[in-house]
Amino acid sequence: MSGHTVMTLAVVTLAAGKGSRMKSDLPKVLHKLAGKPMLAHVLNSAAQLDDARQHVVIGHGADAVKQQITEFDVSWAVQSEQKGTGHAVAQAMPDVDAEATVLVLYGDVPLIRSETLQKLLDESHAGNALALLTVELDDPTGYGRIVRDDAGNIQAIVEHKDASAEQHRIREVNTGILAVSAAHLNTWLPKLSANNAQGEYYLTDIIAMAVENDVAVRAIHPLDEYEVQGVNDRLQLAALERVYQRQLADELLTAGVSLADPARLDIRGTLTAGADVSIDIGCVFEGDVVLADGVSIGPYCVVKNSQLGQGCEVEAYSHIDGAQLASGCSIGPYARLRPGADLKQSAKVGNFCEVKKAVIGEGSKVNHLTYIGDAEIGKDVNVGAGTITCNYDGVNKSKTEIGDGAFIGSNSSLVAPVKVGAGATIGAGSVITREVADNELSVARGKQRNISGWARPVKN
Ligand code: UD1
Ligand code: CA
Repeated sequence: MSGHTVMTLAVVTLAAGKGSRMKSDLPKVLHKLAGKPMLAHVLNSAAQLDDARQHVVIGHGADAVKQQITEFDVSWAVQSEQKGTGHAVAQAMPDVDAEATVLVLYGDVPLIRSETLQKLLDESHAGNALALLTVELDDPTGYGRIVRDDAGNIQAIVEHKDASAEQHRIREVNTGILAVSAAHLNTWLPKLSANNAQGEYYLTDIIAMAVENDVAVRAIHPLDEYEVQGVNDRLQLAALERVYQRQLADELLTAGVSLADPARLDIRGTLTAGADVSIDIGCVFEGDVVLADGVSIGPYCVVKNSQLGQGCEVEAYSHIDGAQLASGCSIGPYARLRPGADLKQSAKVGNFCEVKKAVIGEGSKVNHLTYIGDAEIGKDVNVGAGTITCNYDGVNKSKTEIGDGAFIGSNSSLVAPVKVGAGATIGAGSVITREVADNELSVARGKQRNISGWARPVKN
């Protein structure tokens, strides 16, 4: 259509640096923020942009980075020696479409927002310009300074180490993030020299080249400063973690979730919550968690990859992982639901109980000190305190089936494979090894003997 050109976008993320100040064997960009490598956050933001082709420049720990970053379609470029940001971008250029717009990002600047990147791209496209993301800092020490002429036009970026005393007073700094056409980069990058204070090929030297070539240079600012904060050490990473967590907490509060304290909650994944959900202090949510309307989570719970139905109540110190809960279930305190725990409506799992790969039927109760694994429990079953499904013989796992309305007496062992029929009753302390038919009573324990006239031994 007239006047509308489709621009392809190449995102080049620099991630070759060592990150010595992390004092870690792990490459810096693999250090986690909200449970996910910093580099994955950057790639995720870039992936929101239309038609983005992603390129990542790796060097230190290249193999580890490739192995751990698998959920994105990226083309990797290796920079074996870190000779500067300009040199780093040049390593990706052979794979970049010559017609593309190039957006340069950093694997250690994890909280950049896609909205800000889109604004930067719009600015670049609007004037076929070199678009820079800049911020004004109270303390610009260490950063490249944005040098403008009297009319306010950007003339160059001067690195802190190369700057004059007068330039050191400039508070507008380069964040490093920029957008420009691949065509321009292919012209300018080969012309960079390392004739500067650090002996590096500075990407920032292309700004003066743009000015010389009459290419417009424009700057925009991010919405928030944390978007452009880089991570060089664990203190900075911890600070950004708090910023990010607070952001997620504020989103939940805005969406109508009650948080006992928005500063004492950690989300490492995606938490989807309905209306009138309440979450007490110290809870950690990992992976994909869905809490339906009216769910309440007590203090110090860990909930991972689970769905909790309407009105479920989880009491303090419970761990829920890979579980599916229908509405009205009641969990804990101190309960552990492991992968495959499938609780039907209004089921109850109480303190010090562990449930794994098992269906707990509607209205059934597993209340105290019990292990239920590889089991299928019907409706309205009462499982007494200390019951164990003996699902493992040391080699194979076997299944326990319990019919509707059965009553399992306390301290029973159900040696799988075994079935307990509907309405059956198991006497306390039984070891059940054979099928119990519907409505039968089974007592499988030593008979009680009372010996009268017995005398206790006396001390010699
Ligand atoms: C760079 C900018 C500076 C800006 C600052 C913002 C240049 C020359 N300077 O300085 O204007 O204010 O960022 O934080 O660009 N990297 C590689 N390969 C290399 C060199 C760097 O992958 O050869 C990566 C690093 O891992 C790092 C990023 O690029 O993630 C920035 O490099 P760094 O050397 O820290 O640049 P600064 O000196 O901070
Ligand atoms: Ca830096």
